Amino acid sequence: MYTIDMMLSKGYQIIIKNNLLNDIDSEIKKVYQNKNVYIITDERVGAIYLQKVEEALSSFSVQSITIKGYEESKSIETYAYLCQRLIELGATRSELLIALGGGVIGDLVGFVASTLYRGMPFVQIPTSLLAQVDSSIGGKTGIDFLGHKNIIGAFNQPILVLIDPTVLSTLPLRELKNGFGEVIKHALISSKDLFDLINVTKLDVSEEIIYRNLLIKKEHVLKDEVDKNERMKLNFGHTFGHIIELKYNRLHGEAVLDGILCAIDYAIDLNILDKKVKDEVISLYKKLELDYKEYDYHEFLPDFKYDKKNIAKTINLILIDEIGHSLIYPVGESEL
Ligand code: NAD
Ligand code: GLY
Repeated sequence: MYTIDMMLSKGYQIIIKNNLLNDIDSEIKKVYQNKNVYIITDERVGAIYLQKVEEALSSFSVQSITIKGYEESKSIETYAYLCQRLIELGATRSELLIALGGGVIGDLVGFVASTLYRGMPFVQIPTSLLAQVDSSIGGKTGIDFLGHKNIIGAFNQPILVLIDPTVLSTLPLRELKNGFGEVIKHALISSKDLFDLINVTKLDVSEEIIYRNLLIKKEHVLKDEVDKNERMKLNFGHTFGHIIELKYNRLHGEAVLDGILCAIDYAIDLNILDKKVKDEVISLYKKLELDYKEYDYHEFLPDFKYDKKNIAKTINLILIDEIGHSLIYPVGESEL
């Protein structure tokens, strides 16, 4: 078992423990004293875990809402549906929302929790690898709009994050590999040790691997909760990746794997990165049999203007100059 304290504007704890789903009642009681809780999940996760989670929450009065899931659900329509259902169910401002699912459910529920009644408390129970190593912590919430990723959203921290790595046993293999987009991103921007470890552990995900990823995320988020400088490094591969994700209908983590290769090509063209690093990264992708594609990054430059890292018409592109070290590289309008 590992725990991490997130000392942010709203402090909270992250618990990583095999079979933690059995203990969620006592953990939630420590941070939430009211009776009613509302679980929001998607159809696939709900079919496997909803009953177990509802039964585990024996001290609470539980109502649940199940939505379809997948990226299409990170929409204004699903957001409105959830707000409507919660109002119909009688949810009030001080009552707890529980996000049970992957990054889609986490981002969506977090955004509902930021806005409905001007803010409700929420707990993350992430069930995909991507959500366990990345999206469930740090408080970025939001939805897609007009074909752009996460373009409407809010920073809103959960009150607790409960991570049970054993639930990954039911995650489809494609989704597990998808989560490695964020794992490899963390290693490339900040930890050669983690890069070397994944080369050995491959697709085996332990409590320790999740913990090491979350320490990297924590380090960046604590320095810069609202993504104005250091935290932007967590977007390595994402400026290209977000465009690829929607344009080529790739899963988020797959698009991050592709976007990482675009960012690596960009850094090689700038002469700040040795070509050999690209070979090492592709060799890791191949060892893990990850689904990646190579694109010519020039194709995506015109779409940079919609990126959230576009500040005063300058894109802050995240690059690496070696494995385990990243930098923020401002790209001006004229360069684009
Ligand atoms: P997802 O939520 O769609 O989950 C992927 C699929 O796996 C879904 O079908 C889901 O039902 C299923 N699933 C999840 N857990 C399962 C389990 N234990 N067993 C069986 N099936 C399971 O997608 P995702 O990859 O988890 O998240 C992607 C989203 O996360 C994207 O929208 C991305 O923008 C967002 N994201 C957010 C942040 C952030 O900081 N907020 C960071 C990275 C990614
Ligand atoms: N996933 C990037 C971030 O949380 O900032």
